[in-house]
Amino acid sequence: MARSKKIGILTAGGDCPGLNAAIRGVGKTAIVKYGMEVIGISSGFLGLIEKEYIPLKEHMLSGILTLGGTILGTSREKPFKKSKQFKVDKPSLIVETYNELGLDCLVCIGGNGTQKTAARLVDEGLNIIGIPKTIDNDVWGTDQTFGFDSALWIATDAIDRLHSTANSHKRIMVIEIMGHHAGWLTLYSGMAGGGDVILLPELDYDMDIVNKYLLKRVENKKPYSIVVVAEGIKKPSRVESAASYVAKKIEQGTGIETRKTILGYIQRGGSPSPMDRILATRFGAYAVDLIAREDYGKMVIKKGEKIKDIPLSEVGSNVRLVPKDHTLIKKARGLDICFGSEKTLI
Ligand code: F6P
Repeated sequence: MARSKKIGILTAGGDCPGLNAAIRGVGKTAIVKYGMEVIGISSGFLGLIEKEYIPLKEHMLSGILTLGGTILGTSREKPFKKSKQFKVDKPSLIVETYNELGLDCLVCIGGNGTQKTAARLVDEGLNIIGIPKTIDNDVWGTDQTFGFDSALWIATDAIDRLHSTANSHKRIMVIEIMGHHAGWLTLYSGMAGGGDVILLPELDYDMDIVNKYLLKRVENKKPYSIVVVAEGIKKPSRVESAASYVAKKIEQGTGIETRKTILGYIQRGGSPSPMDRILATRFGAYAVDLIAREDYGKMVIKKGEKIKDIPLSEVGSNVRLVPKDHTLIKKARGLDICFGSEKTLI
């Protein structure tokens, strides 16, 4: 009989709801379906560098499906990034730990940066499987990452709550949503929460157009407005937050009392939504099926309703941004939602 496999699993980059569901999906499938051994690596790639890990037994995976965060811990450690200060050869240490542990494969759960590191470790000769996660929903090659749906619920709820207080005071409310490069969360929560103005990192905007639009709303007997901005929108100053910058420009340009809310890390915390629990579990189970067939060097993806995989090398430095002509943007423009540029209805 063939020797049962031994696999490592780590979570890297910013955390998000659903990481524990994915760890559980990988761990339970590996142990129950295939009789594999599972090693949990602490704090992302740092755990491999500093040799911090623990064997994960099946009972340790019970009760974690609904937990936010990650039981393994995470870090933004980038082992291939050159550092003048520390001369340690981190990639070699990672390979050394992988070999010392006798791993057959390492499962890397993370966003774009993690998948890029994972692809480089494939080049170093390791067997790797990537699983995409992030609230930003911007990992290249997959229609969706887990974490996004949970964050969408949180962001939408926050926008919903701004409507009543904005209406009471006849104010403009600016809310800043996470997303440095990609505006998926801002676009979706802005639409779901009935935002009047939505500003995305992918689209150029003009504050004069935004202000004219907001004044027009007042003329049209709409006494309050909700402005949803992504943290990564283009802005001249590097010190101010996107929300502060936009709120200041609105108050100066319209004379209407304006307040800002920065939602921040609340978007990344707490229990995953049912959809994220399911997606993370499906990703985890599929990852182990790939390992069982020794189909390494892949990242698990969602395409339509199906779970599939692509070569990790395809992900590279690519980021999945909101296309300027995204169908939701076109539809929103038809509803007179302002994206900060001249209105085009197609
Ligand atoms: O998880 C992605 C993300 O939430 C981005 O939207 C955000 O800019 C970034 O993480 C900030 O995370 P940290 O402060 O943990 O580096």
